[in-house]
Amino acid sequence: MSDIYILAFESSCDETSVSIVKNGREEIATVVLSQMDIHALYGGVVPEIASRMHIENITLVIEETLQKAHMSMKDIDAIAVTYGPGLIGSLLVGVQAAKTLAYIYKKPLVPVHHIAGHIYANNLVKPLEFPLIALVVSGGHTELIYMKEDYTFEKIGGTLDDAVGEAYDKVARVIGLSYPGGPIVDKYAHEGQDTYSLPLPKDDNSYDFSFSGLKSAVINVVHNEEQRGNKIVSENMATSFQNRVVEILTKKTIKAVKEYNVKNLIVAGGVSANKGLRDKLEEICKEERIHLTVPAIKYCTDNAAMIGAAGYYAFLLGRRAGLDLNAKANDTLK
Ligand code: KG4
Ligand code: ZN
Repeated sequence: MSDIYILAFESSCDETSVSIVKNGREEIATVVLSQMDIHALYGGVVPEIASRMHIENITLVIEETLQKAHMSMKDIDAIAVTYGPGLIGSLLVGVQAAKTLAYIYKKPLVPVHHIAGHIYANNLVKPLEFPLIALVVSGGHTELIYMKEDYTFEKIGGTLDDAVGEAYDKVARVIGLSYPGGPIVDKYAHEGQDTYSLPLPKDDNSYDFSFSGLKSAVINVVHNEEQRGNKIVSENMATSFQNRVVEILTKKTIKAVKEYNVKNLIVAGGVSANKGLRDKLEEICKEERIHLTVPAIKYCTDNAAMIGAAGYYAFLLGRRAGLDLNAKANDTLK
């Protein structure tokens, strides 16, 4: 079979990204333009600003990606785009750009679910091996997914309230750290000690998670200490919080791997960059002889290379969208 080059778009939140991926495995060129510095001024992503910045940047990002790859549109076999879930105004910019190029250059248009992208970021490390369990942990999602083969997704559990990345960002704010909180809390967690008494959230037999109670517990401790005139030790709070998060995520994930009788585990989404989580999973997987794959750090948070990787398999399966493709703020992974 001849090589397939996918031009991929990702603009679901605050990163404008375009990538060219060969055969779902090889990243030829990727450009990620992060708006993080601007949103940090507001303590979180401002949707209206995000979509305006995508509009300003998308053409430049497309041009830069093609230049970096030394390729032109005639070398591209198909165009893949994140159609959802995410911020509607942000998604629309990527979808519109992808549709325009598909129309002008007569290329097939392949719709990709954002979480399928995060999962296939692992395919850029090594080909996925099935069956597998995927732990998806990002700013908007916390899910356990069983995959029997390529591009089949069975959700076996998920968060009942906050996503884990969201909890990281909120806890960071409460203990006085800047946005996005995940990477800073992770750094602080390695500098402190587990001195605060926090609950292990939703420690039951299900595959579901809940992080809002843990977040509230952090807020309560901070308020109680303030009332006593004490200042919280941010490093210690970060350690206590991260220890509970990592413990519950690894406990339920390993249980799923065993009960579904699989040998392969992958981690996906922004929180898969978390050093505490990566170290703990590596340690347990070594002991239990589970094959663990985690994405390269640069593919953990939002990028278009992961959409190009997932888009390749969607393309092979014949998934296509017409020029009536619309962005969806919410959509089930299927
Ligand atoms: O996947 P992503 O870029 O966007 C969504 O699809 O949501 O994930 C962003 C989330 C943010 O909540 C960010 O704080 C979190 O991932 N994150 C981390 C780390 N790096 C990013 N959380 C914990 N530890 C990290 N090292
Ligand atoms: Zn994401």
